[in-house]
Order: sequence, then structure tokens, then C-alpha cells
Amino acid sequence: MKRIVYSAFVIFFVCACAHVEETITTCDVLPMIKSAEFKSKRFAFDGDVALSINAGDEDTRILTGFIAESPLEIAQEGNKSLHLEVAPIEGITSPEGYRIEATADKVTITAGSGAGLFYGLQTVIQLLDAEGTIPTGTITDEPEFAYRGLMLDVSRHFFGKEFVKKQIDAIAHFKMNRLHLHLTDAAGWRIEIKKYPRLTKFAAWRSQALWKEWWFGDRLYAEEGSPEAHGGYYTQDDIRELVKYAADRYVTIIPEIEMPAHSEEVLTAYPELSCTHEPYKQADFCVGNEKVYEFLENVLAEVIELFPSEYIHIGGDEAGKSSWPSCPLCQKRMKEEGLSDVNELQSYLIERIEKFLNSKGRQIIGWDEILEGGLAPNATVMSWRGTEGGLAAVNSGHKAVMTPGGYCYLDSYQDAPHTQPMAFGPYMPLQKVYSYDPREGLNEEQAKLIYGIQGNLWVEYIPTEEMVEYMIYPRILAIAEIGWRNPAGRDYDEFRQRAITAVNRLRDNGYNAFDLENEFGQRKEAQQTNEHLAKGCPVAYAENAPFNEKYNAGGETALTDGVHGGWTYTDEKWQGFIRSGVDVVIDLGSEKEINSVAADFMQMCIPDVWMPAEVIISLSSDGEAFTEVARIAHEVVRDEGLSFKNFGWSGNAKARYVKYQANRGPQRGWLFTDEIVIK
Ligand code: ACM
Repeated sequence: MKRIVYSAFVIFFVCACAHVEETITTCDVLPMIKSAEFKSKRFAFDGDVALSINAGDEDTRILTGFIAESPLEIAQEGNKSLHLEVAPIEGITSPEGYRIEATADKVTITAGSGAGLFYGLQTVIQLLDAEGTIPTGTITDEPEFAYRGLMLDVSRHFFGKEFVKKQIDAIAHFKMNRLHLHLTDAAGWRIEIKKYPRLTKFAAWRSQALWKEWWFGDRLYAEEGSPEAHGGYYTQDDIRELVKYAADRYVTIIPEIEMPAHSEEVLTAYPELSCTHEPYKQADFCVGNEKVYEFLENVLAEVIELFPSEYIHIGGDEAGKSSWPSCPLCQKRMKEEGLSDVNELQSYLIERIEKFLNSKGRQIIGWDEILEGGLAPNATVMSWRGTEGGLAAVNSGHKAVMTPGGYCYLDSYQDAPHTQPMAFGPYMPLQKVYSYDPREGLNEEQAKLIYGIQGNLWVEYIPTEEMVEYMIYPRILAIAEIGWRNPAGRDYDEFRQRAITAVNRLRDNGYNAFDLENEFGQRKEAQQTNEHLAKGCPVAYAENAPFNEKYNAGGETALTDGVHGGWTYTDEKWQGFIRSGVDVVIDLGSEKEINSVAADFMQMCIPDVWMPAEVIISLSSDGEAFTEVARIAHEVVRDEGLSFKNFGWSGNAKARYVKYQANRGPQRGWLFTDEIVIK
């Protein structure tokens, strides 16, 4: 591999592999290999190694080219040999599995496919020490899941083909095999389609470079070449180059063409494809209009000429469907097809597109909303809104790729938000990603239909290449390992050490990976249980101020359980209030001397989470007559990022009952608090 060049160091640590013989040796491989028996002797790639390959012509070409650019020193002739062989391996079922048998003068990699040989080579490269040697012995390895992917959004901000190639190098090195490109969305169309030139002469360009300024600004598109045009697209030659580059690393690129929604750019370039025919007004295609099918099929016909992947991703997420009920063509379509609601109308489009793609030998994959209104017969579901979509898919006999937002959305914060550049989602450190098991809770039959896992990088708030890499690495390493390794025996601390090594290597090779070794970590309040007077005491909620069930944090005991929330309101430790403010009374059981009452709130405006505008604290001896001891006003101001604030009273009083009220400001939205601490 050209870019992952191994330099002077390999970290040694106790190997997690099975059957370590005689010496403790390096097993610094990520994703972790399945089993190994290492011997104390080593094999040296010292230029005295001849290469032989027994595989098909195409695999031989790919592997020869790869090795020539790798750190493995190979010569035309040599006293030692590296031999690659495509052949069945006993005990290995995946064609991507491989076996390495290494003695002091010969390394043989056997695999059921060229991809397996490629993965064997990645292991060899990762095992290289500073002298270019690897341990002798036997390694047997194969993936847990067939689909191991990364999605890159190139619509919200456009990234050129050389940058995409660089990411392909890295993911292939970690034995990932799919790159899903989100090529179309409101913020810009990114692929040349010969039949519809306005898609790239106009819809690929916009009035502001930064998505954030454009989205919260005028949201105008621009003519290519005009002074205000920001954006870009891949020409069809660029796409061919990328597809070949990826294939030469056993990575399949899956193109995503969004439908029926997220299509503002198309419907401004070609307004006749929307229900109202007005530019800048609609995000959804008109599902009743035959011209839409003509457009989509023409676009897809060019797409499938360019991308040989089995799957074509057809989007399917977040359709507003708001114009369809009043659109005569959509209504006519519903009547003619006997469709009872707009969800079924969406399914009509998806099924029709599926038929088209199936007739060309391709399969569709779509975001989990394609389940609503009935799933197309052969579709695979990409489950992003939690895991339910995946479960529903497998329960109806469909394959699912798991990409749940809480574990796989790499645009969220990977460390304490105040230490990080602005991100979109909540705190999702490497440990959280690594804790995900795509088959958790599934029976054997269901589990068989889980095709794999994918990490998704949406880039609304990620305008630069440096930031893209920062958000991807190292969290994609956790995705790579989940995709490759059975969850039994996974140990985060051990993984983290390997991930640190991988991060250091990535950084040495020009990737702007997050500095995992110097991670700030979880909010300190959340790291331990807090002892205080109210811990374990009952909390009564005012009838008109209930907590929200989705963010119940454990229910009625949440605010006095001693447990503080972390950096995110989705960690099931923050209790959420949406219909009202907070209005609770805590019963301390008997009259106590009290010196302080306080609670933390958080603010994160993008998901509509706000500080309270006012907090009132009152005390009572009998639970009937309360005396107000504090009224704290707070000016709630929109800001970026995440902040925390403690609202409390301190003084000296006696009371059995403590009332804590927090009122929402003019923004309304959510209030989140985690613990009412009384001392
Ligand atoms: C998605 O995040 N809208 C798939």
C-alpha cells in the first residue's frame, strides 16, 4: 500500500491471539486476527525474497501492483519466497478469509479469493517490525461480516478524487470493503450525468462554500464558473478512475442517488420534476409524474454503467411528502394504484425503481424509511434510526446493513465537546462505537441476515479534508474491527492500545487522525456516583410537567439516583422535558439541615436543547406550604456547540421537601437535567 508506509517502529505488547508459543511477540493487528500460533524465529523481507502468485490474471495484476508499492521488500529472484495462492482453506468459510504460514525462508498466504490474499498481505504489513521482519508461525483469519463499509457525504461539502483515494487506501488496509458515496443531496449534485447537464452545470454549485452559511442563508445554486459558484462534481472519467482504484484494493464503491427526497438541487435545476414545478420550493420528486421515472431511470442507467457494484443506494430517507396530498398527479397515482397513504406512494416509487435496477442485474439498498409503506421485494435496508429498521428488515427476510446513529455516525463528538471543533451529533467516543454489536438481541435466523456494518460521515459541519480525516479516524477502526471480529473476547482497553498504534501510523502517513492517546474523556461528574442528601429519595412530578418517556433516564428515580449524565443527552442519564419545564418535589424522608440545592442543565441548540430561563427553588417542612429560597433568571441565548450550567441555591435551612422548578425560555424546545443534588 502506497500511503500506509511502515516506518521505524512497532509497539510490542502481550498478544491477545491464541497459542502464543515461546516468545511474546507482536500481535499489533487491527482488526484483530482470529487465531495465530507464533514461533520465535522471524522471516525477513530484506530484498532476498522472490514473489510468486497463483491466482487469476486480474488478482495477480492487482496483488503484484500492490506489493510493488508496499513496504514489503521483494526482488525478482531470492533465496526466500512470498507465495500467494488462491485455494480452498479448511475451516474457513468466507472467501475473504486467509491463512498465513510463515517459516524463516517462506511465507505462504492462501485464500479463497484475491481479496483474501490482499487481507493476508495487510496482516503481514501490520506485523512488520522496524527491521522488516514478521514472526513465523500460522495465522488463520476471516471476517465476521461480509459488508464492512464507510459512507462519505460528498454533497454537503465536495471532496476531490485524490482525497477519496487516500481514504480508500486506509479503509482497505483495515480490511474494509465498501465505500458508500452520498453523491446527491440539496447541497450539491456530485456526479456528471450526460443526459442532464444542468445537474453539474448548475445543481453542483452553490452560493456559499460553507454548508452552514448556505443552509442558514439564501440556499441559492449558481452557474458553474460564475464568481459565486462553490462546489464541484466528479466527471464520469473521475468516477471510472475511482472505481478502478477502489477495485484494485478490493473495495466496492456504492453510489447513492437520493430519491424521493433530499432532492432540492435536482428540483431547482429541473423544476418540472416536482409537484409544483417551482424552483427552490420542493425537496421531494413528484411521485405521480411519469417524467420523474424517465429522469430517474436515465440517471440510474448512466450510474450503473459507471459503477459495477451489486448495490445501488437509492436514499429513501426523510421524505417530507408534504406536496403529495395536494398534488393532482400524486393523487391520481394513488387512486390508480390503490395506495392508501403517502407512505405507500413512496413505496410505489421505490418498488418501481427496484424493478428497473433488478432488470439490469442490480439490487437496491436504502435508508430504513424505505420500510414505511411496504418494503420493495429484494431491497436491503440500511438501518440508521437506531436498530429497529434492521430488525424489521431481517424479520421480513431482508438483509440489513447496520449503521445506527448512536454508534456509527462519525459526525458526532468523539471527545469532550469543549475540546473539539463543532460537531453535529452527541458524544460518541471510540469506546461507544466499539461497544456496538450488530447482532445483539437477535436470534440465529435473524442474525444471518445482518449483512454488515457501516460508519457514516455526514459533513454538514465538516468543510475540510483535515476535518474529515479527524472525524473518521480512529472511529472507523472500531467499525472495521466490529465488522471483522466476533464480539466474544472483545476488550476495549486492549483494542484502544492497538487503535493508538494505528492512529500513530496513520498520522505518520499523513492522515489527520484524532489524537486518541491524549483523549480528554467523559464528563468528570459522570464518572462516579454522587452521594448527597437526596440520593434515593422519592421525586414527585407535577401532573402538568412529566418527563419525556423517550428520555426518561430511568424514570421517577432518575433525578436522585446519584448518577450524572455525560456529554450527551442520549446517554440515558439525562432526563428530558419537552411539553413543559421541570417541576418536581423531593421528599427527604425527614426534616434535614440543607446547605445547597442544585442541578445541571445542558444547551445544544441544533437539536433544540436549551437552558432554562428561570429556576425556582422552594423548601417546605410539610409538603404543603413552600418558601421560595431562590429565583434564578437566565437569559437563554442561541449559541453553537454544547454547554453546561449549574443552577442552584446555597444557604442554611431546614426542610423535608424540596421543590425544584425550571421554566423554559422563549425558544421552548427541550430541557435536560440529570440530578438534583441536595447537600
Ligand atoms: C440519514 O441520516 N438521513 C440517513
